[in-house]
Amino acid sequence: MSDALDRREFLATGWKVGAGLLAAAGLWTSWDYLWPRLGAGFAAKVKTVAPDAVPANTVLEIPEARAYLTKVNDEVVALSEICTHLGCKVPFCDSSGQFECPCHGTVFNRAGDHLAGPAPRGMDRYKVEIVDGVVEVDTSEKTSGPAPGTETINEPPLGPPCGDSHA
Ligand code: FES
Repeated sequence: MSDALDRREFLATGWKVGAGLLAAAGLWTSWDYLWPRLGAGFAAKVKTVAPDAVPANTVLEIPEARAYLTKVNDEVVALSEICTHLGCKVPFCDSSGQFECPCHGTVFNRAGDHLAGPAPRGMDRYKVEIVDGVVEVDTSEKTSGPAPGTETINEPPLGPPCGDSHA
C-alpha cells in the first residue's frame, strides 16, 4: 500500500471520527436542553423564599420553577415566565415595571394582566403554598391567566420600556 493511500485513509477516518464526535455533542446538547427536569424543579414543587422576601413592587425570578414571584394585593403569586402567545420566555423590565415579551411585543403588568399585544390572555399562574415558612411553587398545577381587560392591579408604567413594542 502506498503512502498516499495510507494518508487518504487516515484523513478519511479522521473526518468520520470528527463528524461522529460533533453529532454526539449535538445530540447530548439537545437532549440536555429539551429533556424536562421533572424531579429537579419543573413539574415539581419548588421551595423558594420566605413570604416576607417576596417583593410587592417588583418581581423575584425563580429559574428552577420558570416563574416569577410577586405580591398582588398582599398575596404571594407565582407567574409562569412562558408567554401565553407562543411560549417565549417573558422577561421583567425593571424600568417600566412590566413584563415585555421580546418575541411579538405582548406586555403584561406586574400581576400578569394582559395589557397589549397578541397574547390571548394574561400570564398563567402556578399554585403556591407556604410550607414550613417558605413559599412553595407547584409547577404541576397551573391556572390560565386572566382574560384581556382584567385589571388585577392598576399600575401605570414606572418608566420607559426595555425593548421595542411590536404591539
Ligand atoms: S410569544 Fe410572547 S408575544 Fe408572541
